[in-house]
Amino acid sequence: MNKKVVSLTMAMLLGLSLAACASDSGSGDSGSSTAEESSGGSDASSGQANKDKPLVWFNRQPSNSSTGELDMTALNFNKDTYYVGFDANQGAELQGTMVKEYIEKNIDSIDRNGDGVIGYVLAIGDIGHNDSIARTRGVRKALGTGVEKDGEINSEPIGTNTDGSASAVQDGSIEVGGKKYVVRELASQEMKNSAGATWDAATAGNAIGTWSSSFGDDIDVIASNNDGMGMSMFNAWSKDNKVPTFGYDANSDAVAAIAEGYGGTISQHADVQAYLTLRVLRNALDGVDVDTGIGTADEAGNVLSEDVYVYREEERSYYALNVAVTADNYQDFTDSTKIYEPVSKQLAEDKHAAKKVWLNIYNASDNFLSSTYQPLLQNYDDILNLEVDYIGGDGQTESNITNRLGNPGQYDAFAINMVKTDNAASYTAILSQ
Ligand code: BGC
Repeated sequence: MNKKVVSLTMAMLLGLSLAACASDSGSGDSGSSTAEESSGGSDASSGQANKDKPLVWFNRQPSNSSTGELDMTALNFNKDTYYVGFDANQGAELQGTMVKEYIEKNIDSIDRNGDGVIGYVLAIGDIGHNDSIARTRGVRKALGTGVEKDGEINSEPIGTNTDGSASAVQDGSIEVGGKKYVVRELASQEMKNSAGATWDAATAGNAIGTWSSSFGDDIDVIASNNDGMGMSMFNAWSKDNKVPTFGYDANSDAVAAIAEGYGGTISQHADVQAYLTLRVLRNALDGVDVDTGIGTADEAGNVLSEDVYVYREEERSYYALNVAVTADNYQDFTDSTKIYEPVSKQLAEDKHAAKKVWLNIYNASDNFLSSTYQPLLQNYDDILNLEVDYIGGDGQTESNITNRLGNPGQYDAFAINMVKTDNAASYTAILSQ
């Protein structure tokens, strides 16, 4: 309420001409910037140079997309720079184990054509994204289909491999009740559309159509690097054919689908990540210790326990911990946009004055980011007294987003979700000008 009155007054004082150059008037806005936030062309209240303002990278960690090596220059851009994400390896291992345990538990019915080969197909999100790479490895490791390359499990897509001859994977085996089964990755593909968008759900829906029409009887399990692609495959084929699909993210629609045969998913604790994303900015803006309201309770009583996140100082990174969501516990995860109760208390506006944040979502149509992460951010921004401009990218080009960072002087802090993890400098160059 209060916030709106303030911004209205400011807009009136500054006049329409300034309001017209508000942050997201740039190229092709995809409509995901919310009206409530445009508070005219006023300057940020901190008076800091842009290069010194708090900056948080989230969801895509600045890193080399081929080697995974962290981009410590971007992570140390200034003393108030952090990354917020989740523990990709811990989550990937959980996903692999979840699939393996499901197979073991359902061994009597899983091999649909009774040929002794448990066949699975794999939807890969983005071959240059560390989360995607980790999840591909996690599934291959748990099922014994991984092959080492340079000391790590190869995460390349294989195309089709119905005869087991692919070299980037091998046949694994699972023994249950004295009987041995072969486990084979029948096919895998990066789900990238012709315009270049990765993690593309529609592409995954088409892929399962192609795969099922040529070797559908061999497919016993579907694994997907995320729920967006997983649900697309579930709806297109696996639900009707009673083949379990396993995804990642615990989006509400995927959790609900567990009641209808979706195999399971992993919660990356987006409720904790969204909080951390805005909380590290709030703390820097307040000039308090970064642990406030995180590992140390703030005056309102917000605090996170050690079982939901880790902070690695040397990486300047906060990582939320993952939880498996299966038929056993899905009832607890039905609303993915619900804020996390231990950090749900409103901060007082007199001590934590309203501040303006520029935040982008790299792809406005990414299922996880748009249906889970952004709604959570929007719930937390009020609690933390942050006025956030949400900018939705096209998922393909960095410039589509950076074009809309034309007036960094208007903001007190920045939250950035890159298209490609290699591209941090496209943003820091603008802030350094
Ligand atoms: C999520 C994916 C999402 C991707 C976007 C991952 O962490 O699990 O669902 O598409 O981030 O960057």
